[in-house]
Amino acid sequence: MSAPTSAIESVLVENRVFPPSDAVVKAARVSGMAGYDALCAEADKDFEGFWARLARENVNWSKPFTRTLDTSNAPFFKWFDDGELNASANCLDRHIGTPTENKTAIVFEADDGAVTKITYKELLARVSQFANALKAHGVAKGDRVLIYMPMTIEGVIAMQACARIGATHSVVFGGFSAKAVQERIIDAGAVAVITANYQMRGGKELPLKAIIDEALAMGGCDTIRNVFVFERTATTCNMVPGRDKTFGEILAGQSTECAPVPVGAEHPLFILYTSGSTGKPKGVQHSTGGYLLWAKLTMDWTFDLRADDVFWCTADIGWITGHTYVAYGPLAAGATQIIFEGIPTFPNAGRFWQMIEKHKCTIFYTAPTAIRSLIKAAEGDAAVHPARSDLSSLRILGSVGEPINPEAWMWYHKNVGGERCPIVDTFWQTETGGHVITPLPGATPLVPGSCTLPLPGIAAAIVDETGNDVANGAGGILVIKKPWPSMIRTIWNDPERFKKAYFPEELKGYYLAGDGAVRSADRGYFRITGRIDDVLNVSGHRMGTMEIESALVSKTDLVAEAAVVGRPDDVTGEAICAFVVLKRARPTGEEAKQIANELRNWVAKEIGPIAKPKDIRFGDNLPKTRSGKIMRRLLRSIAKGEAITQDTSTLENPAILDQLAKAN
Ligand code: WTA
Repeated sequence: MSAPTSAIESVLVENRVFPPSDAVVKAARVSGMAGYDALCAEADKDFEGFWARLARENVNWSKPFTRTLDTSNAPFFKWFDDGELNASANCLDRHIGTPTENKTAIVFEADDGAVTKITYKELLARVSQFANALKAHGVAKGDRVLIYMPMTIEGVIAMQACARIGATHSVVFGGFSAKAVQERIIDAGAVAVITANYQMRGGKELPLKAIIDEALAMGGCDTIRNVFVFERTATTCNMVPGRDKTFGEILAGQSTECAPVPVGAEHPLFILYTSGSTGKPKGVQHSTGGYLLWAKLTMDWTFDLRADDVFWCTADIGWITGHTYVAYGPLAAGATQIIFEGIPTFPNAGRFWQMIEKHKCTIFYTAPTAIRSLIKAAEGDAAVHPARSDLSSLRILGSVGEPINPEAWMWYHKNVGGERCPIVDTFWQTETGGHVITPLPGATPLVPGSCTLPLPGIAAAIVDETGNDVANGAGGILVIKKPWPSMIRTIWNDPERFKKAYFPEELKGYYLAGDGAVRSADRGYFRITGRIDDVLNVSGHRMGTMEIESALVSKTDLVAEAAVVGRPDDVTGEAICAFVVLKRARPTGEEAKQIANELRNWVAKEIGPIAKPKDIRFGDNLPKTRSGKIMRRLLRSIAKGEAITQDTSTLENPAILDQLAKAN
């Protein structure tokens, strides 16, 4: 933790309150605050009994569990661990023989606007066929499979097929570089890669398979036996004979029936790498039983899902939101969902609104950064304003990934929700598996910019550095005091880091989220104030400053030293600023611009385009204490363009501040 509690201040006072309408309350699954309070009381009274009841009601167990929670090896908690289930059976087979079997599971809209629909029954057949193809290539229960796919029905099929045979998937977002893919393959010990030849985004055909080839050529990936390639476009790509096979080849002749393999509740359904405060991403390992319960339960609680809803979560399957609220939750809940291949600004920035109208979307779930960029676009061009589209089908809106500023909240509420739709501002993390602090649409009075209250059974609290509760109104560290079913189980290959990063001793064994937060004095509502570790949130994507620093200094012919900090940005939430000392004279003017670009491209190659620093400033040195520690808080002020008011007396080289402030 780099910021002390005292530095986390509450600066925002928000007095507007939007209670749900009587009609919404009446029809809701969790109806009114009385409904919410009743669930909280049940969890309070009998914590294990509460989760056991929900796990029995929401999950189909091939072997029922008898133990709910095992705390004997805390913080390696186990949930429902003598029970057995299959995640894919819980998303697909459970609907067979019910009216849902012929319901549309996925409405897929391609980048070019072409629409494909698939029913639950058809999806089950395709997942089964793909699972058989994996089996035929020796992929078995417990194996790890790396998935590097565009947003497509096939991306979901790949994940579900792994789950069906008990293989653990590790999805890597298509914006990550070959180097990032290689590191993840090695860490996970993956036996196969599932990818596509190309992906279509914004009218452009972008290579995916070529990046896998590059990753595998970097070496160390000897565990990989096969690369399975979805032919998304007609353009050919390089194929290594024996190793690489197209979907067409491997699916030919495979049966469309495949019995789901039962796994223990604690079996790792997936690993998903995320940034932490060191240079090495963490492989967040999730369970099968507890995770699936959460995916299903929060579809009902947070989105108040009904049989005729058309659900749309815009997140990519490469992120946790795309796991829980695209690949698993909507299917487990039997929803019809929209999956979109493209980007919100192509062919114009009205695309989301046009798609909501076209597919009669009822629940729309997106990120604040998307909202802010679409506000900007709509204000500049009436033709792409949401008012141009008929959004009357909408009934619930959601926000995820970063704090939503009250201005963006109000715009979303008015212009997209027609002042009629509750907005669920869902706070959660890769590690929490699903929502943990969020309003319930038919219960919680909303306050713009606040994720309001913890879900029933979630013991969220705000504490100081010694783990003691702070008063409402005072800022502090967000923790969760008790385990919950969908929590991270460990860091793949690194249980020690898991303990240290998430359950630090000084916090009494509480789960440390890594965010600062404050509860309002009046309602006790939570507001997230941002990360308290060295993790930035850029467009809702987590980026470790250390990771970017390591990437920069790995350009050893050029870079001597680098420090990376965040600064606020109107659209992306935070922007990445790098302060760099070169091994040659400090560049200025055109030369500085050119080297900055070279470094940006280097970072894109090392991590991915999403990690490119927006600002790069060159200095002769960095501000350091006499003991040699870089003073990042000063760099943060410089990045923001603020005057330095902090104490600089411990600084070895005060003149450097002036130089860095002027450098651009
Ligand atoms: C931030 C994304 C404020 C937070 C699901 C967290 C939020 C990190 C919210 C996790 C929210 C997520 N309000 N901040 N509603 N939702 N965050 O792992 O800093 O990609 O720790 O999971 O995003 O990002 P991750």
